[in-house]
Amino acid sequence: MDLTNSKLSVAIVYTSVSGNTEELAEMIYQIFLTWSVDAAIYRIEEFSLSDLLHYDVVAIGTYTWGNGDIPKEMRPLYNAVEFTSRKDMTTAVFGTGDSFYPMFCGAVDQFRDMLYVHTNLAATLKVELRPQRQDLQRCEKFVESLLFRAGMHGYARVNPVMRK
Ligand SMILES: Cc1cc2nc3c(=O)[nH]c(=O)nc-3n(C[C@H](O)[C@H](O)[C@H](O)COP(=O)(O)O)c2cc1C
Repeated sequence: MDLTNSKLSVAIVYTSVSGNTEELAEMIYQIFLTWSVDAAIYRIEEFSLSDLLHYDVVAIGTYTWGNGDIPKEMRPLYNAVEFTSRKDMTTAVFGTGDSFYPMFCGAVDQFRDMLYVHTNLAATLKVELRPQRQDLQRCEKFVESLLFRAGMHGYARVNPVMRK
């Protein structure tokens, strides 16, 4: 891909009921903004599946439901990515879960397995419930892995992440 004239387009698509995954998605979004990419963040309800074709990079965020299950609102996205099968799309999956359950972040694992087969999977990230300050560094690594895999070698950051 020629990155000299065009910025990478990045979509973060997530779901969240009680806010943990939303916080994680926001953390990741803020880090993307420190790089010179076109990043957008969508709740799954706001995301049009046909737009999957327009992004170079897609980061999917999900909590886990039932017994290690993908939440039902994420099923159409799962099916669309599987059906579209774009090896030129770089992807990653992140999520929050509760290690009290036997399948900790099972939805992340299910997405990971599918993304590995059908896309250029770069990274996964699992966080215990609400993201903490120490998760910021893991989020930075997550974003860097994605951008590196998508061909952003040697790109400089626009601004460093603000650390509170
Ligand atoms: C009924 C129910 C089932 C759950 N099942 C799992 C599970 O199998 N594995 C897991 O890691 N977390 C499980 N969780 C925990 C949620 O995934 C976790 O609280 C998550 O952070 C919620 O994300 P949200 O705040 O973005 O909605 C479950 C929670 C509920 C209420």
